[in-house]
Amino acid sequence: MLQKIEDIKTHFETEINKVKDRSGLEELRIKFLGRKGMISNTFALLSEVPAEIKPQFGQGLNQLKKAVEQKLKETGAKMGKTDSKKAQLDLTLPGRSPGRGGRHPLLAVADEIKSIFSALGFSIEDGPEIETDFYNFEALNIPKSHPARDMQDTLYITEDIVLRTHTSPVQIRVMEKQKPPIRMIAPGRVYRRDTPDASHSPFFHQVEGLVVGEDVSFADLKGIINAFAHRMFGSDIKVRFRPSFFPFTEPSAEYDFSCVFCHGKGCNVCKGTGWMEISGAGMVHPNVFEAAGIDSEKYTGYAFGMGIDRIAMLKYNINDIRLFFENDLRFLNQF
Ligand code: DAH
Repeated sequence: MLQKIEDIKTHFETEINKVKDRSGLEELRIKFLGRKGMISNTFALLSEVPAEIKPQFGQGLNQLKKAVEQKLKETGAKMGKTDSKKAQLDLTLPGRSPGRGGRHPLLAVADEIKSIFSALGFSIEDGPEIETDFYNFEALNIPKSHPARDMQDTLYITEDIVLRTHTSPVQIRVMEKQKPPIRMIAPGRVYRRDTPDASHSPFFHQVEGLVVGEDVSFADLKGIINAFAHRMFGSDIKVRFRPSFFPFTEPSAEYDFSCVFCHGKGCNVCKGTGWMEISGAGMVHPNVFEAAGIDSEKYTGYAFGMGIDRIAMLKYNINDIRLFFENDLRFLNQF
């Protein structure tokens, strides 16, 4: 019986000398000191030990237990903290390639919009996001009392300087520096005092379109919007115009595309109507031409707006605008 204790001791000593890392050490601890380990199992034999050697057996086993504990502790301390990691380092493994960035879905859609309009002969223009009251409102025939100037919608920097609420002011800036014919789009970021929810964000993206020339008509506007809808969403998309009001156009319209998901049959995205509202458009108001120094007797023109975020949401079936701006890689990696 007493020999058994000696055997365990010898066994432990050979094993501990072979241990290389912390996980090996832990295995050994379980093997000898665990609940079903060799030492506990031997303690369980105590009842079978003849009475005369029982004290000696018990004592010997207790000493062995302490010695094993001590040795495990010492060996562990010698290994230090990072030892187990070092032991696992496999220099033959291929390296990890750095993660590659991708195009943000909004930029990808903006690029697609730009390339569609470029192919239709439009130039691509830019304007400041910090805009004066004159360009954002006044020159666009939006008088001081117009609701679009409401403090609720507009982010004012000073009484006279705003974060542009739409890309329409770029129309004025282009007409000021360029004589007709003009055929331009202006994509960019705009700002509104909106509380974020699934369909609102305090900033979002628009594309402005403007065509000015002699004999430019509403039919030309319809033709261009149709061509865009077909190139962006497919040739089966239908476009409809509804009468509307914008201060900078006369007549004004809002235009819809037939639902890209149900193709006009009615689904939950288009709320059963078969149509999706896109934005507004119309013939440039003579007051706008006046403000920009263009002869409204000689020239006519059309203008239209478009929401880039909205188009991207329709294109990729995204139901929450905030996803674009949260930089969550789980979202972005899907594009
Ligand atoms: N600026 C308008 C908006 O932000 C959109 C718009 C409507 C632009 C009609 C236009 C237009 O050029 O003709 O809601």
